[in-house]
Amino acid sequence: MVSTSSEPPLLYEKTAGGIARLTLNRPDALNAINMAARDELWTALLAVRDDPDVRVAVIRGAGDRAFSAGADITEFGTAPSFVESRRARQDRDVWGLMLSIMKPLVAAVHGYAFGAGCEMSLLCDLRIASEDARFALPEVTLGYIPSAGGTQTLPRAIPPGGAREMVLSGEPIDAARALAIGLVNRVVPFERLDAEAMDVAAKLAALPPAAVAAAKEAMVRGADLPLEQGLRLEAMIAARLSSGAPPA
Ligand code: COA
Repeated sequence: MVSTSSEPPLLYEKTAGGIARLTLNRPDALNAINMAARDELWTALLAVRDDPDVRVAVIRGAGDRAFSAGADITEFGTAPSFVESRRARQDRDVWGLMLSIMKPLVAAVHGYAFGAGCEMSLLCDLRIASEDARFALPEVTLGYIPSAGGTQTLPRAIPPGGAREMVLSGEPIDAARALAIGLVNRVVPFERLDAEAMDVAAKLAALPPAAVAAAKEAMVRGADLPLEQGLRLEAMIAARLSSGAPPA
């Protein structure tokens, strides 16, 4: 796909089957996430969360080279002040918003998924990768640390040793390795990626939405609880689901 800077940095489409498709659309910059893309992501994710017609979202990158090469490094240090940039991040906590969405999020990852690109995929429930996918958290090599959740989400997604190595070294891993350590659910040829992600999404969208939301909520909220408390949470959510009451 060819893109010019006049094109929107994010495309939002909705299918009749209840799937929202969000496409990071800065292929010339490997879909790096700049402030404009972040703002658009915020709006699109709110729509995913609040639109009752949307049952599942798929997140992908435009072009043939990257899901996303991470935060736009050309914007580093350009905020008027540290306080202002922190306030902007808090006001529009895109990553927190992703975590709060109790609908399945599917990442369709090809090419580079570096930095915030990798982290965004980690905030999704399922990751489908194409054979050319490369995952990395290179922030430490640049003198930063991952700050879209990577130090917390990666060790919760894959065995701790693998997570330590990726965060501390910044070295990329390929799709085969990502599959072997459980970072991705499946790997398909590049040409199949979109269709596979949409197939997976369509299957999820066809399921009872309240049950899917409750199951996701139980896993998200229970992830860091001791088993006993997790079981209580599960029982409470199961009872709420059977009574037809809405989530608290
Ligand atoms: N922010 C802004 N622009 C980026 C970018 C980023 N994170 N990643 C890539 N780009 C831009 C490049 O500047 C280049 O633009 P240009 O064509 O106008 O020069 C274009 O995307 C293509 O990237 P290029 O570096 O030429 O491709 P490559 O195949 O040689 O290398 C990467 C690909 C991903 C290895 C390399 O671009 C890279 O290391 N990017 C930074 C990744 C990163 O550190 N992300 C985390 C930031 S915390």
